[in-house]
Amino acid sequence: MQQDKPETLLSREEIGVRTARMAEEITEDYRGRDLVMIGVLKGAFVFLADLSRQVELPLEIDFVAVSSYGEDTRSSGVVKIIKDIDLEIAGKDVLLVEDIVDTGLTLKYLAGMLRDRGPASVEICALLNKPDARKVDIEIKYCGFDVPPKFVVGYGLDYAERYRQLPYVGVLEETEGSEGTD
Ligand code: IMP
Ligand code: MG
Repeated sequence: MQQDKPETLLSREEIGVRTARMAEEITEDYRGRDLVMIGVLKGAFVFLADLSRQVELPLEIDFVAVSSYGEDTRSSGVVKIIKDIDLEIAGKDVLLVEDIVDTGLTLKYLAGMLRDRGPASVEICALLNKPDARKVDIEIKYCGFDVPPKFVVGYGLDYAERYRQLPYVGVLEETEGSEGTD
């Protein structure tokens, strides 16, 4: 399923406008607090870079990397932590930054894991949301765009590790559902 140029779903301009707006909201909401932005690797690296540079507050940045256990994840919701964060988050305000929320299992697990470490708060910020694919209930406080249940790539998102560097979000032809690597 290699395509030179996946069809544009969200242009870099649309993403830029929305990201700037989300950064403004975050700046307002976290003023005077102790913000730690945690990106979920690898997919969130582009979004977190663009978003965080427009948040006009002191903040810390860290990353977590996860991999799913395939079918097990779908039933148990347990994801494997490949790389944990390095920062202490007790008493801090954590904002989990993700590329896309699909079933919701990854973020549900991660948010629970981080909440057990005694932060002041844990909220979720996702560039994309696929509401039709949701399996568990999670609250996305900052959501960029709802997208249809198709396989999307670019702006950090991959198909078999390709397309992450595209400056826009595109749709791969004849795709349904989700089988990206994180
Ligand atoms: P969830 O646990 O099902 O919400 O999984 C979300 C993860 O699956 C995201 O962080 C992505 O890495 C991956 N994913 C889900 N849908 C897509 C897609 O359309 N394109 C690329 N990756 C996706
Ligand atoms: Mg991901």
